[in-house]
Amino acid sequence: MKANIQTYSTTEIKVTYDVNRCIHTAKCVKGLSRVFDAKKKPWIQLENAPSDVIASVIEKCSSGALQYEMLNGENNEKLPRKNRMILQEGGPVYLHGDLEIQDAGGNSILKDTRFAFCRCGKSKNKPACDNSHIEAEFKGGVRADTSNMPEIQETEHGSLIIKLMKNGPAILEGSYRLESAAIGIHESNKKIALCRCGGSSNKPFCDGTHKQIWPT
Ligand code: FES
Repeated sequence: MKANIQTYSTTEIKVTYDVNRCIHTAKCVKGLSRVFDAKKKPWIQLENAPSDVIASVIEKCSSGALQYEMLNGENNEKLPRKNRMILQEGGPVYLHGDLEIQDAGGNSILKDTRFAFCRCGKSKNKPACDNSHIEAEFKGGVRADTSNMPEIQETEHGSLIIKLMKNGPAILEGSYRLESAAIGIHESNKKIALCRCGGSSNKPFCDGTHKQIWPT
């Protein structure tokens, strides 16, 4: 994963935009067009709205391409009460919460609050989605067999660790809410292997098919 960061600042707020992580869901443009306008240069004009309004729109950026920091140190981003994994039909899984992505050896690669996680296996910016699922006509649905995932009602808030196995799935550890139109909300803390090669017959979970797709 390679970042390509643009930075915008006023005396109150610093905003960063990672070009490589933007997958153009356009929540910023639709939410606050007087600040986020792709037809203008620069395309982010922070002076056109109060900083707290800008911050609340940035918190809806599900890929995490947009981030902010309040320069007075107050009112920084609040996390959802539970870590969220939201399955997108034919696309990524959106992660939202206290996230830490690690390599297979447990070394931290990224700590973040919002992330669009590639599950088609075609992104050139893995583990981040780069919209390659569109060209690949990825058929990742939003169903998930949760029968082996004990449901929990209340959990302490904690990090969701996403460990990237070499040529294999992502192992997710921590508590989370798995969400989609098909399954509603399922809260669990079962360790799961999330398919990231795109080939599993048991999506979104790994079924070992990666050994044929990404032979070691
Ligand atoms: S990562 Fe896709 S089947 Fe294992």
